[in-house]
Amino acid sequence: MTLFTFRGVKSHGWTFYDHIKFDMNSNALLDSQGRSVRYIRISVTDRCNLRCQYCVPSADFVNLGHDRILSYEEIVRIVRIFAPRGVTSVRITGGEPLVRKHLERLVTSLSEIPEIKDLSLTTNGILLGKSARALKSAGLSRVNISLDTLKPERFEWITNQSEVAEKTSLDDVLEGLRASREAGLDPVKINVILMRGFNDDELMDFVALTEENEFEVRFIEFMPIGHNGFWTADRVITADETISRLNSFCDGLESLGKGRGAGPARRYRFPGHRGTLGFITPISSEFCVECNRIRLTSDGHIRTCLFSDVETDLLAMMRNGCTDDQVVAAVEKGLTVKPRGHNISKTGHQPTCARTMSHIGG
Ligand code: 5AD
Ligand code: SF4
Repeated sequence: MTLFTFRGVKSHGWTFYDHIKFDMNSNALLDSQGRSVRYIRISVTDRCNLRCQYCVPSADFVNLGHDRILSYEEIVRIVRIFAPRGVTSVRITGGEPLVRKHLERLVTSLSEIPEIKDLSLTTNGILLGKSARALKSAGLSRVNISLDTLKPERFEWITNQSEVAEKTSLDDVLEGLRASREAGLDPVKINVILMRGFNDDELMDFVALTEENEFEVRFIEFMPIGHNGFWTADRVITADETISRLNSFCDGLESLGKGRGAGPARRYRFPGHRGTLGFITPISSEFCVECNRIRLTSDGHIRTCLFSDVETDLLAMMRNGCTDDQVVAAVEKGLTVKPRGHNISKTGHQPTCARTMSHIGG
């Protein structure tokens, strides 16, 4: 629990900023900026049934072998070690998490850890039609589905269907959306990366999804990740630009507070719509000062920041028989070099991120 927070207080020539927090949990995992870790994103596989242009497009991309991927038991061990140290939220990601067999078994084990209050999944939605119900029964609370276009031919292009073994379509994702709601996953969020010249003419089509359904459609600023050349500064559309475009289409866009599991999203609602809109602004307004997350890659490395390639190899440590305390000590050491922020600006500063998103899991 956070005891108190300084708000830019000036005293004896020192300024204390409001991200310097004191944590009453003496076990808490803290970084050198005083930020505590509450949230872990776990990539359960680097495999994916799609090949999104901005993610894993290159033909020479090699997937990791099974023995280099954390087992479910190893993942559960890691979460059990972190849970009493303040971690209350777990998000399962990939690659595409649903291509890993029996994911519901992992969900069951994680949902049995008492400190974990929030268990969510980020998926491309293709396989959700078949699995939403089982995941919900296993203890999954909510789901984020990535969907960048509502036009079938654009979907085919952005997901690189010419390179995937098993062809899929926009309809599969729409079926996944429907199944998630029907299964009672709540909220169901739709993650849309806005890319100028690709999908920025579909803004109102995405807004229309919120008219009858309680979806939260979240527009995400496009980030420079991996080295595939698809990202350019002029493809980025900031939340401010999106909001002013939406205002030009319709009056009354209403700003809402933060919602359940909202994370760093700014939330809005269109008049009369059941669902909401969210804006994730990694580019235009850095939320790093509030960052409470770490990432576990599918090959068992802890990354304290998307944009720091300094990683802690827990897989190697655990397979060499380390103790739980040694895991904690290694992660604490990694947290001492968690960056303050990434400083990406729209003008094109490209921070390093040697891995592709399919390794890290967003
Ligand atoms: N910029 C912003 N978001 C991205 N994602 C993947 N690559 C990027 C990027 N370059 C998102 C996906 C998914 C989540 C895992 O990360 O759309 O919603
Ligand atoms: Fe797969 Fe997600 Fe990467 Fe697309 S963005 S290729 S769905 S991991």
